[in-house]
Amino acid sequence: MSDTPSTHPINQEAVEAAVEAALAAFASAATVAELKAARTEHSGDASAIAQLNAQMRQVPKDEKAATGKLMGQARGRIEGAYKGREAELIAKEAAERLVAETVDVTRAPVRARIGSRHPLAQLQDEAADIFIGMGWEIAEGPELEHEWFNFDALGFDPDHPARAMQDTFFVEPADRHLILRTHTSPVQIRSLLSRELPVYVVCPGRVYRTDELDATHTPVFQQIEGLAIDKGLTMAHLRGTLEHFARQMFGEAAKIRLRPNFFPFTEPSAEMDVWQPNAKGGARWVEWGGCGMVDPRVLAAAGIDADEYQGFAFGMGIERTLQFRHDLNDMRDMVEGDVRFNRQFGGLV
Ligand code: DAH
Repeated sequence: MSDTPSTHPINQEAVEAAVEAALAAFASAATVAELKAARTEHSGDASAIAQLNAQMRQVPKDEKAATGKLMGQARGRIEGAYKGREAELIAKEAAERLVAETVDVTRAPVRARIGSRHPLAQLQDEAADIFIGMGWEIAEGPELEHEWFNFDALGFDPDHPARAMQDTFFVEPADRHLILRTHTSPVQIRSLLSRELPVYVVCPGRVYRTDELDATHTPVFQQIEGLAIDKGLTMAHLRGTLEHFARQMFGEAAKIRLRPNFFPFTEPSAEMDVWQPNAKGGARWVEWGGCGMVDPRVLAAAGIDADEYQGFAFGMGIERTLQFRHDLNDMRDMVEGDVRFNRQFGGLV
């Protein structure tokens, strides 16, 4: 450097200060992103070193070589420091990523409990599937039902004593004649009114009666209803269908028997019992449901000519079926939702 006072600002102290500031900023950058920001600040177009460089034009000729060298070294140190710190930070970030992504294959798995379908829902599907296997269809109807479908169309006249057989939840206002359906039989009428003949349907669904919850009753329960209307159906078809159903539900050795009974919507009507040869307490007959040949009055209510079409119907309780198929002595277990009960039926809880 010349001893004569310079008229340009490129002096050793200014250059050194700019380099030191850059090196300190690089050293304190904790991430590659911070480092890049520090580079823009300390060696970018607006940086101190770039501003010094811009003064090169004013450097006298005889000082140009020395000043150029000074500036070149300064830039070299800044660039070198940047590269060194960049390599360090890339390695550090890669190491941190590896630690963060480590999988401990020896850790105990988190065993989340998986829910399962309720045994009643499973049984209902199982029953419906047996009929689907025979080419029948699933029918549905509303739980809030009109009295006409639940009673009148099924032969329960307004003053018919049979209306008292079923303890009904009436829904206000009374003049709308809405009730919670007491059985799935109204779906027979709905199916006949909405489908083309012949009709082969099963209707699993929820029904309501004003019973107290106890070991053998629940005010909300489920039934599965069946209805077949075609030309030339007889009681033999009813019997054969129910026997097949019973074998599928209770095993090949199961059989059924029909005992005379009364229902206003079937004639003749029967109570159906099922023979359970493998029941826990020994072989036995169990009352399973009602059935019969569809009463011509029911067909008439649906506008069907009873001389041309005949058929049969049946209905049974799902809870009751589950109860005696599995020797359950308290129906409350089915509605209380204790997972220990559900687990016994193969659920994954
Ligand atoms: N709906 C009757 C009840 O809940 C059961 C029943 C009996 C259904 C005879 C039928 C039938 O389809 O034919 O008590």
